[in-house]
Amino acid sequence: MANVAGLDAFKENQETTVIDASKKVKIGIIGTGWIAESHINAYKNMPDVEIVAMADLVPGKAEAFAKKFGVENCRFYESDEALIAAEKDLDGVSICTYNGTHASCAIHALNAGINVMLEKPFTVTLDEAVEVMKAEKKSGKILTIGFQPRMSENMKMIKKIVDSGELGKVYYLQAGGGRRRGIPTPFGTTFIEKETAGIGAVGDIGSYSLDMLMGAVGYPKPLTVSGYTSAFFGKDPGYYPNHPEYAEKFGVDDFAAAFVRLEGDIILDFRISWAMNMDTCGDALILGTKGGLRIPSTECWNGEFDSPLKIYKTIGDETVEYSVPLKPREDLFAKKLRAFVDSIKNGGTATVPSSEILYNQAIIDGIVKSAESGKEVEINIPEI
Ligand SMILES: NC(=O)c1ccc[n+]([C@@H]2O[C@H](COP(=O)([O-])OP(=O)(O)OC[C@H]3O[C@@H](n4cnc5c(N)ncnc54)[C@H](O)[C@@H]3O)[C@@H](O)[C@H]2O)c1
Repeated sequence: MANVAGLDAFKENQETTVIDASKKVKIGIIGTGWIAESHINAYKNMPDVEIVAMADLVPGKAEAFAKKFGVENCRFYESDEALIAAEKDLDGVSICTYNGTHASCAIHALNAGINVMLEKPFTVTLDEAVEVMKAEKKSGKILTIGFQPRMSENMKMIKKIVDSGELGKVYYLQAGGGRRRGIPTPFGTTFIEKETAGIGAVGDIGSYSLDMLMGAVGYPKPLTVSGYTSAFFGKDPGYYPNHPEYAEKFGVDDFAAAFVRLEGDIILDFRISWAMNMDTCGDALILGTKGGLRIPSTECWNGEFDSPLKIYKTIGDETVEYSVPLKPREDLFAKKLRAFVDSIKNGGTATVPSSEILYNQAIIDGIVKSAESGKEVEINIPEI
């Protein structure tokens, strides 16, 4: 073939990032359960990160966790408070505790001047989220919420399409997804007990669904919510053939639906499910005056999609549909934790800021309160 070296200039840039590992970022892990495994796997691959401390309420759990993942020279504690009191030169913590202790752990860390990666959902209640944000404001430290689907190029495409103006004025969002049989109990009951989880499907996978749609349209302020929650499957001993006793422990929701009014004349039609007699709550939809976007549902919904987005438009007098090809899957946990470490090193800002996720939490809180009262509720967000 002829020498076409000059044409190589048009090849896509293969970006290589050089990591300066001369100074290590000191990280602590609070809560060493299931999701902490993804955090540790990501941190262990970073040449500029040193995991110096771990804490878990269960005696010996943090030590066993460190051993399993081959982390050496690490100190262990039996609570977030003990870790924070003893470790004076931490740069950041991953808070991987169950929802019920998200707020207290984040407040303790921020008050001690430590940057925080807080797993999703933000908190259990809106009031808790407000208190965490007050601590964040006072500390001037980074608080980022662990929505790794945000790091996906496919998810970013949803926002790019909305921002391009191709859809015109967006007026309706429909949340989709959900699971037919997907109450998360493979590792015990921390997701289903009121004390540890606080909220069920509405917070666990509902928060992802909200982030996908609300993030795409720039997180408009929620105004009112009419919500419904139920727990028919979670409270049924027959749901858990090997653990019928889980039904007694089930203290959260396994299904939620809501009608939410957002600032800017946008309606959010929300539904989410850990368990139902249906394979999906449907695709997620964004309707605009000039176009519509379909975000296809997946088999076991977890906050991402795995088939092409579809755009619906009218060109001339023809209705047309076209697909947006999927980009390759990436390790989103590695990306989310790399972004956290980079923001610590470079004095950057949160990748997933609390100021946005506050509205996510406000909707969840509104759904819970409206479901309890049986009435539509107004969303009032206290001053921070
Ligand atoms: N981003 C994701 O993809 C993803 C996936 C799964 C779970 N999560 C979130 O991660 C969080 C944890 O989930 P999990 O499945 O690992 O739960 P888990 O119950 O397996 O682990 C939580 C651990 O935190 C410990 N803990 C609680 N409070 C503590 C405290 N104050 N100090 C020290 N340790 C404490 C518990 O003892 C437990 O070992 C949940 O909020 C969940 O929503 C996120």
